[in-house]
Amino acid sequence: MTTLAATGRTAAGPQQRDATWWRQAVVYQIYPRSFADSNADGIGDLRGITGKVGYLRELGVDAVWLSPFYPSALADGGYDVDDYRAVDPRIGTLVEFDELRAALHGADIRLVVDIVPNHTSNRHAWFREALASPPGSRARERYIFRPGRGERGELPPSDWTSTFGGPAWEPVGDGEWYLHLFAPEQPDLNWADDEVRQDFLTTLRFWADRGVDGFRIDVAHALAKDLTEPLASQAELDADVCSGAHPLQDRDEVHDIYREWRRLFNEYDPPRTAVAEAWVPAHRRSRYASPEGLGQAFNFDLLEAGWNATAFSSIIDKNLELARESGASSTWVLSNHDVVRHATRYALPDGTDLNAWLLHDGAEPHPDEERGRRRARAATLLILALPGSAYLYQGEELGLPEVADLPTDALQDPTFLRSRGEQKGRDGCRVPLPWAVQGPTLGFGDRLAHLPVPADFVRFAVESQASDEDSTLSFYRRALAERRLLQTGESLEWLTPTSPAVVAFTRPGGWTSFTNFGSTPVPMPAGTVIVSSSPIDGHTVPAETTVWLQQDRPAPL
Ligand code: GLC
Ligand code: CA
Repeated sequence: MTTLAATGRTAAGPQQRDATWWRQAVVYQIYPRSFADSNADGIGDLRGITGKVGYLRELGVDAVWLSPFYPSALADGGYDVDDYRAVDPRIGTLVEFDELRAALHGADIRLVVDIVPNHTSNRHAWFREALASPPGSRARERYIFRPGRGERGELPPSDWTSTFGGPAWEPVGDGEWYLHLFAPEQPDLNWADDEVRQDFLTTLRFWADRGVDGFRIDVAHALAKDLTEPLASQAELDADVCSGAHPLQDRDEVHDIYREWRRLFNEYDPPRTAVAEAWVPAHRRSRYASPEGLGQAFNFDLLEAGWNATAFSSIIDKNLELARESGASSTWVLSNHDVVRHATRYALPDGTDLNAWLLHDGAEPHPDEERGRRRARAATLLILALPGSAYLYQGEELGLPEVADLPTDALQDPTFLRSRGEQKGRDGCRVPLPWAVQGPTLGFGDRLAHLPVPADFVRFAVESQASDEDSTLSFYRRALAERRLLQTGESLEWLTPTSPAVVAFTRPGGWTSFTNFGSTPVPMPAGTVIVSSSPIDGHTVPAETTVWLQQDRPAPL
């Protein structure tokens, strides 16, 4: 008998999707403040998201990952958390969180929340207590305080610089300084402290008990630190080649923390999942992704690669190998809230300095928008055919470009100010979504938007794309619906490329993905075309296009 599974055309039932649902999930990242505003205050909120669950279901994603929605002064877009077990009143309430969770689950969509364990905000109760307490006090042990150098402690303990620019130490006025790898409003926690460890276990439980299915772990590589004196210089830190003994990053003992978390996750049924945001070289990634650890880790290799067939195939190969090693499934990411949107990256000449381009308000070099979108669709269709999970970022399904010409006084990213304007920052990918073709914020909210929505975003509005068969939104819907039917095993077999510009492989069930990275058409391989990233004409795969084909199905016995 020919089973449905043998044809690869069966939709995985709830049973199958349970404990392993994350292995091949399509996870849609929502940046809550910029998704949908339900009460016209200019800030996206939880009710706004709940109102769009139908949209997410129709899009066909398996899970939603919410960037932080916790109380925060927004010194770093919410990654400066005041209270890990509450909702920012501007974004909603815990009751509204429960409503959102229920609506998502009702639509068979899992929910992943962001946990920010490397640092709290400077408004967190612990940090306030630390500031109000003297040097050497218990309250200061939860953070990383050190006496300054110089006679009166007027010099920082070391020359370290923070990720957002400027020094990584901030004085508190009594001779002590505290460490902040990011903004000064984000004091680093001391993970050698037992209370810190225990409190995060409480936080994880708090959300897991509320029905959250998984966690995205922010800056997962930096929690464990060794500040034994004498402190290394910044130059020495920069020279460290990820030995596992760098004082601030990717230290081997960070995995003790995640082993403890994993035990907690596994107390739940199904076990809670986690994905590490760990900016470490590929060969160190498997440690985060191991089944005894977080279980999965972001692979940003494609996001960092250009439009290039050779780069894509070697990155895919390497990451599938790493996934086999760790027992995790791989992850594929082209865009997120920290990088220039991929439709724009691919619109610019390879090697463009993206920050310099942003600083020129996107004028020079001039982006070829159409080409960028064409390549972006092709790259997306390629990653959606790969074994593992695909992480999509809100708005990419609309083909949204980066907004490069936000007025300077509208910028919110601390990077801009901390670098004294040398880094434009990440606001251009965080602009609110255009839902409608009318209204001052194109349907994001009523009158206001916390970042201005450019008038030409009307071209990308959901309202106009939803009924247009050729739109990027319709294309994403088709691709996700087909993927859901086709995705079965986790194996991939490379097809011998017919040209150096081609990346092609098959998956179980006779599913072929074929990408032509080149600028001229190439012959179409055998099979029936199921989805293509650009219109097909005749028996060739057009330039900069991915097609999915299915080989003839076995005839029923
Ligand atoms: C992560 C987040 C980024 C944030 C940083 C500090 O990299 O993705 O948005 O600024 O951590 O929390
Ligand atoms: Ca609102």
